[in-house]
Amino acid sequence: MSLAKRKRPKREDKMIRTEKRLESDVFDRQSLFAIAKLMKDGHFATVDYPVAKGKEANIFCGTTTDGKKVAIKIYRIDTSNFIRMHDYIDGDPRFQGTSRKRFETILAWTRKEYSNLKAFHEAGVSVPRPIAFLRNVVVMEFFAEGNIAFSTLEQMGSENPQKDYDFMLTQVKKIYQAGFVHGDISEYNILVTDDGLKLLDCAQAVLLAHPRAEDFLRRDVENLVRYFKKQGVKEADTEKALAYIKDARPVLRGLEQLKYDEENKKE
Ligand SMILES: Nc1ncnc2c1ncn2[C@@H]1O[C@H](COP(=O)(O)OP(=O)(O)OP(=O)(O)O)[C@@H](O)[C@H]1O
Ligand SMILES: [Mg+2]
Repeated sequence: MSLAKRKRPKREDKMIRTEKRLESDVFDRQSLFAIAKLMKDGHFATVDYPVAKGKEANIFCGTTTDGKKVAIKIYRIDTSNFIRMHDYIDGDPRFQGTSRKRFETILAWTRKEYSNLKAFHEAGVSVPRPIAFLRNVVVMEFFAEGNIAFSTLEQMGSENPQKDYDFMLTQVKKIYQAGFVHGDISEYNILVTDDGLKLLDCAQAVLLAHPRAEDFLRRDVENLVRYFKKQGVKEADTEKALAYIKDARPVLRGLEQLKYDEENKKE
């Protein structure tokens, strides 16, 4: 360490440390700004407690002025794997031209999660209802009993594996018919709630126009087959499940439809 650095005045030292902590913590300046604006716009009145820390984001519980709970998902700017995100951003016509810089990638990722949730929710898929998003923050329906968030399928196991397997295939089919593939379905991203199974973590979902959409779909189905086979669904079979899911033409809308048609003409 240089002499100049060692002799830095104490107050300045402290400021630098505070700055560092802010940058490396979830509540960095960007997140604080987004949270403040979302609060000002009335999406929640308080940020109450941390619910979970995922690989890319921290999830908090918030409360609205009329006492309703919301989930606040804050993508970490510093520590999320933004390189991996490009596997799901590049090739999705909705996000063409997204910069490869860390911050811009995370903003696109957040916008992608919100718009996927919106499309899925409108298509009747069992996902959290999206409420709002800004910068690196998504606000959505919170699945909890009182203050305690429901657990994942991985933690809870399935009480009725055949019913749950059929239900999940129906969800994948609905997503496919809406023109998407989820891309990260597993027992870790499914919550067991008192209102049935709920599929989380929708940011990586891609349009069927994505060149790897088929691979992602197969991987999702294989994960379900593997999990539910272990739970005792003997007939669970990837090929049969894929045939069931694809047995209807996907319904795409607007610009997405045009882009999808364009992609398919090239084949
Ligand atoms: N809407 C919600 N309601 C209740 N709990 C939630 C909700 N969203 C997320 N959680 C909790 O937070 C955890 C992490 O959420 P999510 O999978 O969306 O984040 P992530 O950072 O993408 O995670 P990972 O990359 O580790 O899968 C979930 O497993 C779940 O326990
Ligand atoms: Mg997850």
